[in-house]
Amino acid sequence: MARTPEYFVGKTIIITGAASGIGAATALIFAREGANIVLADINKEKADEVAAAVKKLGAGALAVALDVTDRAAVDKMVKAAVAKFGVIDFLFNSAGAAGRRASFLEIDQTLWEQTFALNSTGVFNCMQAVLPHMLSHDAGVIVNVASQSHKRGGPGASIHYAAAKGAVVTMTMGVAREFAGQGIRALSISPGPIDTPFQAAAETPPEFIEKARADVPMGRFGRPDEIGEMVLFMCSDACEFMTADTVYINGGGGWR
Ligand SMILES: NC(=O)c1ccc[n+]([C@@H]2O[C@H](COP(=O)([O-])OP(=O)(O)OC[C@H]3O[C@@H](n4cnc5c(N)ncnc54)[C@H](O)[C@@H]3O)[C@@H](O)[C@H]2O)c1
Repeated sequence: MARTPEYFVGKTIIITGAASGIGAATALIFAREGANIVLADINKEKADEVAAAVKKLGAGALAVALDVTDRAAVDKMVKAAVAKFGVIDFLFNSAGAAGRRASFLEIDQTLWEQTFALNSTGVFNCMQAVLPHMLSHDAGVIVNVASQSHKRGGPGASIHYAAAKGAVVTMTMGVAREFAGQGIRALSISPGPIDTPFQAAAETPPEFIEKARADVPMGRFGRPDEIGEMVLFMCSDACEFMTADTVYINGGGGWR
């Protein structure tokens, strides 16, 4: 929540991965606060559906088909966002996926490279594309979705994914510290298991899902809006001295 009433009214956020899960929930939260939303996702049809819901809340919306691994497409998306809304105040990088689950010795070159392309290079592309615009206004907040898996290392199933998310935590810290004196803040969020289509996309076996749930002291998966509300706080003027770090949202841990 912001310190100043109506802080978000008329401000603009770019959200990647906005068609589903955490990105979609965050879009609706920022729309509730009166912000304009650029919904960038590889799934344009679903991004259009979320854009319609955003507009229903009275907020501005622009849905863009985007593969975050395609740098030229990312540049084009930022240009379109600026053309539509003028100033981009916030960037929320939520696009990501665990890829196929695989034990370490089963991770092949393709899986390794695709996982890094989506989860690390995608975040790099979007941050590097939007930062010159933010710097030209001496202001901007970037929030990246990492994962608590970066702290666990993902043994047995997701070392490729955990390592790619570790890169997000590190990159966020570096960008935050490099631009801290120029009006830019950058933070990452490291969620525990959140109830979204993410697990289905990774074809996570049911026993793995049960183990993840049992490992959370609160005994449940998080809801996507429980991440979105943190994004809102991080972007707000109630959070002005916070930058560089990652924040864990995980029902109390799950470090086994
Ligand atoms: N759900 C969880 O348990 C969990 C836990 C920790 C971290 N995360 C991270 O949270 C973020 C959001 O995941 P979610 O749970 O909302 O999953 P989700 O599958 O519901 O949403 C991911 C979105 O990213 C989009 N996307 C995929 N590849 C893309 C690409 N190349 N370019 C643009 N968009 C692309 C998908 O179309 C989808 O709309 C991801 O970065 C994920 O790694 C999720």
